[in-house]
Amino acid sequence: MDKNTSQHDFISTVSHELRTPLTSIRGFAQTMLSSWDMLDDDSKKQFLKIIEEQSNRLIKLVENILTVSKSQNTENYVFKNVEPNSAIKSVIPIIQQQYPEHKIIMDFNKNLPEIFIDKDKFQQIIMNLVENACKYSNEKTDVIVKTDFAPNNKISIKITDEGVEIKDEDKQRIFEKFSRIDSPLTRAVQGSGLGLYITKTLVENMNGSIIVESNSEKTMFEVLLPVCDIENQAREKCIQKH
Ligand SMILES: Nc1ncnc2c1ncn2[C@@H]1O[C@H](COP(=O)(O)OP(=O)(O)O)[C@@H](O)[C@H]1O
Ligand SMILES: [Mg+2]
Repeated sequence: MDKNTSQHDFISTVSHELRTPLTSIRGFAQTMLSSWDMLDDDSKKQFLKIIEEQSNRLIKLVENILTVSKSQNTENYVFKNVEPNSAIKSVIPIIQQQYPEHKIIMDFNKNLPEIFIDKDKFQQIIMNLVENACKYSNEKTDVIVKTDFAPNNKISIKITDEGVEIKDEDKQRIFEKFSRIDSPLTRAVQGSGLGLYITKTLVENMNGSIIVESNSEKTMFEVLLPVCDIENQAREKCIQKH
C-alpha cells in the first residue's frame, strides 16, 4: 500500500471512530433538550452518564491518535543509556493501581546491561503490554514481567498473562491500526485497537522486534531490544548498525 492510500485509510477509519461517540453524545443531548419535561431524574442521569462515558472514549481516542503520530516521527526519539529493569519497575505501580485485583510479578535478571533507547517510549511499550495483559485476563490471576538476556546481543522482556487465547489467525492482525478481536471479553472492555499498533511502531523504531505466543492457558508478548556495547563501539556506529 502506498503512503497516500494508507493515509487515506487512516483518516477515514479515524473519522468513523470519532463519529460513533460524537453521534451518540449529540443524540442523547438532543433527546434531553427536546424531552426535558417528560424525562424523570433517573433517565436524565442515565443519559448524562452515557454522554460522560462517550466523552471519555473520545478523549482517549484523540490521545491515542496523537501518540500514533508521535511514535511514527523518529525525530521525536531521544536515545540515551537506560537501565531496563529500573525503567520497568517505576511504571508497574501505575498499572497495578488501575488493576488492583491482578498480581503483577516482576522477575528480573539483575545482570542486564544498559540499553540505548528512548526511556519514555520504552515505558510506554511496557505500560501498553502490561495493561493489555490485565485487561484481557480475569481478576485474581498473575501477570508476569520477565527480563533476561536473549541471543544475538539482545535483551528480552516477556509479559505473560493467564487470559484469553489469541488464535493464530489473529496474531498478525492485532498489531494493525484499530484492530480488535471480536469476543465477549473485548466487547466488555473499552479500547481503540491502537495500543499494539503504537507499541509495535515504538519497538521497531528502537531497532527491536515484538512477537506473541498464545494458547488456552497463557498469552505472552515478547519484546527484543539490541544491546549497544558502547565501550567497544562508537555510539554513532552502533546506532547505524542496528
Ligand atoms: N494480552 C492479551 N490477551 C488477549 N488478547 C489481547 C491481549 N493484548 C491484546 N489483545 C487483543 O488485541 C487487540 C488489540 O490490542 P490493542 O491494540 O492494545 O487495542 P485495545 O486494547 O485498545 O483493544 C485487543 O482488542 C485484544 O482483542
Ligand atoms: Mg490495549
